[in-house]
Amino acid sequence: MTHRIAVIPGDGIGTEVTPEGQRALEAAARRFDIALDFETFDFASCDYYLEHGRMLPEDWRRILGEFDALFFGAVGWPEKVPDHVSLWGSLLQFRREFDQYVNLRPCRLLPGIKSPLAGRKPGDIDFYVVRENTEGEYSSVGGTMFEGTDREVVIQETVMTRTGVDRVLKYAFDLAASRPRKKLTSATKSNGIAITMPWWDKRVAAMGEHYPQVSVDQFHIDILTANFVLHPDWFDVVVASNLFGDILSDLGPACTGTIGVAPSANINPEGRFPSLFEPVHGSAPDIAGRGIANPIGQIWSGAMMLEHLGHPEAGRTMLAAIEAVLEEGDERLLTPDLGGQGSTAALGRAIAERIAG
Ligand code: NAD
Ligand code: IPM
Ligand code: MN
Repeated sequence: MTHRIAVIPGDGIGTEVTPEGQRALEAAARRFDIALDFETFDFASCDYYLEHGRMLPEDWRRILGEFDALFFGAVGWPEKVPDHVSLWGSLLQFRREFDQYVNLRPCRLLPGIKSPLAGRKPGDIDFYVVRENTEGEYSSVGGTMFEGTDREVVIQETVMTRTGVDRVLKYAFDLAASRPRKKLTSATKSNGIAITMPWWDKRVAAMGEHYPQVSVDQFHIDILTANFVLHPDWFDVVVASNLFGDILSDLGPACTGTIGVAPSANINPEGRFPSLFEPVHGSAPDIAGRGIANPIGQIWSGAMMLEHLGHPEAGRTMLAAIEAVLEEGDERLLTPDLGGQGSTAALGRAIAERIAG
């Protein structure tokens, strides 16, 4: 069976790291005899917007809906298009319309990378952030009144549904139950956000009844961010609302040395729609065009994609190749965020060669 993959590089370093992701995937496909058919699209980029006045073609759901997975780089170039326009016109549409309600974001300190946290070594930081990905604080319910006057009022509602919250909690509990430590941490702010957040806590407690083997704790988001830095070893599976999950999934990878390595899977677990695999980082305009972006977040996202498509061994081999190259620590290959002088392409090629075996 051939897996059809839509490649959507987007903007900035998205266009630099996706080819390395594809190179790595092609190496894995050859080694494990997996048929991958890639098609690359220029939409979901700010240049496309400047040309067409929109981020996506009108029939994007039909075009992308026919693929088995979407391999995405990053979108955003605020000098060309305001961020909320480019992101709400592309990535956030994909997540919503394709009902990718789980955003799975591993945080793992990889061998050969120095954590900015004193004394932390691989094994000390190894957890998942499971981020609710279609509702919560990322809602389009709200508006502006008395715009432009000194009476201006701006409202944006948080939307949480029982279906929406229970399904992501179930995913997180299942994940926790499958891991050796069987521990789930819920991020809320139920002291201050007194309607939605205590309700989220109740849904966690209700779901927990079905998982007696999983130990559950919960933190308010403020102290949780402190504990990510002070005690990253406490965490196994961390489940959070859309906004809290967004913040935790930059903080977690920062604790593992660089956000350049962090991958993510935007999953529609039922498989009704294609899932989307992308690094956690953005288009990084500050380093774009210099060929020095770390491609590992993109390559690791590719590993998650192969796993999702039913090839766990190929996914594991890709991650093992990343770890092997990092462990060797050749500064000529490592990108500057990893302390080296290497390039996106040199690091990408080294990992692809390792995957090839
Ligand atoms: P960013 O992740 O693009 O960059 C933050 C910092 O991390 C920058 O200093 C950048 O150089 C560095 N960095 C990021 N990825 C790196 C990599 N692979 N290798 C080395 N260094 C890396 O976040 P930002 O600056 O807040 O956003 C820039 C643009 O990207 C904005 O338009 C934003 O909206 C967009 N964005 C898009 C996504 C996405 O498409 N998923 C995610 C985050 C931000
Ligand atoms: C991410 C990004 C996006 C988000 C932005 C670019 C809209 O930060 O994927 O983490 O907030 O989800
Ligand atoms: Mn983010």
